[in-house]
Formats: sequence, structure tokens, C-alpha cells
Amino acid sequence: MIILGIESTAHTFGVGLIKANFKGRIKVLSNIHEMYTTKKGGIIPFEAGKHHKKVCDKVYKETIKKAKIRESNISLISYSSSPGLPPCLIVGRNFARELALKLNVPLVGVNHCIAHLEIGKSLTSARDPVLLYCSGANTQVIVFTEGKYRIFGETLDVGIGNFIDSFGRYIGLGFPAGPKIEKLALKGKKFIKLPYLVKGMDVAFSGLLTNLKKKFDSKTQENQRFSGPRNCFTISREFSVKDLCFSLQETAFAMLIETAERAMAHCGKKELLLGGGVACNKRLQEMAAIMCKERGAKCFALPNEFNVDNGVMIADLGYKMFKSGISVSPSQAEIYPYQRTNEVKVKWRKK
Ligand code: ATP
Ligand code: FE2
Repeated sequence: MIILGIESTAHTFGVGLIKANFKGRIKVLSNIHEMYTTKKGGIIPFEAGKHHKKVCDKVYKETIKKAKIRESNISLISYSSSPGLPPCLIVGRNFARELALKLNVPLVGVNHCIAHLEIGKSLTSARDPVLLYCSGANTQVIVFTEGKYRIFGETLDVGIGNFIDSFGRYIGLGFPAGPKIEKLALKGKKFIKLPYLVKGMDVAFSGLLTNLKKKFDSKTQENQRFSGPRNCFTISREFSVKDLCFSLQETAFAMLIETAERAMAHCGKKELLLGGGVACNKRLQEMAAIMCKERGAKCFALPNEFNVDNGVMIADLGYKMFKSGISVSPSQAEIYPYQRTNEVKVKWRKK
């Protein structure tokens, strides 16, 4: 069975194709996406929606071509129906709906956050992991119990990725800043003490962001006397940009690892799975692996293309849902911009 997945919750329009064998194992055939980026400022939802509309046909055709299949081989279409930015969700839903009508195949709408977690279970040997979901808009520690993905801890303000991107924007890196900050952090040598904000099982980043901005703006005495043109890297600062990026990662990631570890201890779980765009970060992966090793647990991380928003994870979850009897008719294909992870009844998983 060949399944097509369409992702369009925020900045990325992605199309993925997977093939499922009779045992339910999946094989990735192709995974292509186009991302809406900005040089200055964050995402403008309507602009991102327009971007998706412009690229959707091209991305779809490329995905089909790369997978070396014909359109008529597709037997199920899955789209991200929640949560996300309405102008973006609508483009993906409309595209999926029209295609389902044209090909006369069933349609499934899936929750994007759960798709980030389920793909980790499909592509690794993790069976019942604690999930550290760290993406742009979301930061959650999730455990599957009693038929639902339950949130054990989460950010009290912005998601880790949005926090990193906000700081990146402030220092002139554009969007998305995560990968650029990771590179700068590798060159940082000095750890600068920053606010560490863990409250019970929850974390918060806005205090950390304000503190980082203040430290970035703090100039040396010598610079205050200098009036010539300077840019963000040549300016004479009290704290170097590289050290700030290094300390940002060390502090914010330690907060995530602490809450994930506590969830593992409370629930007696022996596996940790990283998911979401920020899980591409090698330092976060390293910190998670160290913590797991110390407690005799296993740590799982995916290749980057499946951590960032992608169509394959949407196809994967759509397939699991379809097998458990879930599908929608094209006229009923809705979007749910504010749906939370723990609102979804997980019919496709037994334990
Ligand atoms: P959500 O799943 O919450 O809807 P999202 O749609 O914003 O998230 P993802 O693709 O899951 O998107 O994650 C994007 C985020 O990942 C951005 O904030 C980006 O800066 C961050 N990111 C990507 N690569 C890295 C990296 N190497 N280090 C840190 N952050 C990264
Ligand atoms: Fe995402």
C-alpha cells in the first residue's frame, strides 16, 4: 500500500510517500519539502499560506517523480489537520481533498504533534518511550498512558524553537536560527550563567530570552566611546555572541533534559525519544544520550529530515489511523488549529 502525506501546519509545505508492507512496516519512498523563510522578522501566516499555494504542485510532482511511482499507485492520502496556522492548514487540506477526489482514495486528517512522535516509533526500535517533543511552537514531555498521549510537562510560555529563533532574530540571524546558533555555539568557549527556569515538570523561556538580549546589548567601555559603523560580530561586546549561543544551548537544553529525566523516573520508563525540529541539534542529542546512559536507558533520535516538519510523518500516522478504522470524506475534511496533543483519542495503539 502506498500512502501520501501532506504537511502544511506552519512554515513548511512537505509531501512524503511511504510504502507499507503486509506486516505494517513502512519504507520511505520520497520526502520533499519547501520552506517559507524570512531574512528579517518571523512568520507572517498569510504569507506562509501564499508560499504553500505557490509551491504545492511542484513539491507534489517532485515527490512522485523521486519515488518513481505513478499517481494511480497512491491508495491513501493523509494531511495535517491540526494544530497550526489556519492559512497554512487550509492550503494542505484543500490540496489533499482535491487529490482524494481526483484519485478516488480515502482521506485521513492527522495531528501534527502526534505525527512527530509516531514517526520515531516507526523508524526506530523504541517501543514505549518518554517523548521529548521540542519544536518551534511546542515543548512537551509526553508519555503514552490509558489510550492517550499525556503531557507530563511543557513550556509555560513559548516553544524552545521559537525562543531560539527569537534570540537569533534579535542578533540578526533571520529565520530559522536554530541551525545557525548551533554552529556559533560550537565555537563558544566560556559558559555564561543564565536564568534556569524549571518549575516542577514545566519550563519557561521568556526570562532567559530577556536576559540573553540584555547580555547581547551590553557593550564594553571601549565600544561605548567608539562611534564608527559596526555589525553584530565586530562590535566590542562584554559577552561574545559565540559564548552566548553556547550558554543558551547548555542552559535551555539542560532544562529539557531535567524534566524528561524526571518523567522517566516517575513512570519507570527505560527509553527516551527525541522529536521535533530542535531535536536536530547534536548537542541536545548528546545531552539526552548522556542522561540515558547514566540511568541505564536507551536514547533514540531520528535523521534530521524526519525531525523537522515533513510529509513522511503525516503519511505514517495517517496509515496507522486508517488501519484502526479512521478516515474522513473529502467534504468533512476539517482543520483544528488549536487541537492539543492530549485531546486525540489514540485508537491505533494498544498500550
Ligand atoms: P511544531 O511542531 O511546534 O508545529 P514547527 O512547525 O515550528 O513546530 P519544526 O520543523 O518541528 O517546526 O521545528 C522548527 C524549529 O526547529 C525552528 O524553531 C528551528 O529553528 C528549529 N531547529 C531546526 N534545526 C535546529 C538545530 N540544529 N538546532 C536547534 N534548533 C533547530
Ligand atoms: Fe513541527
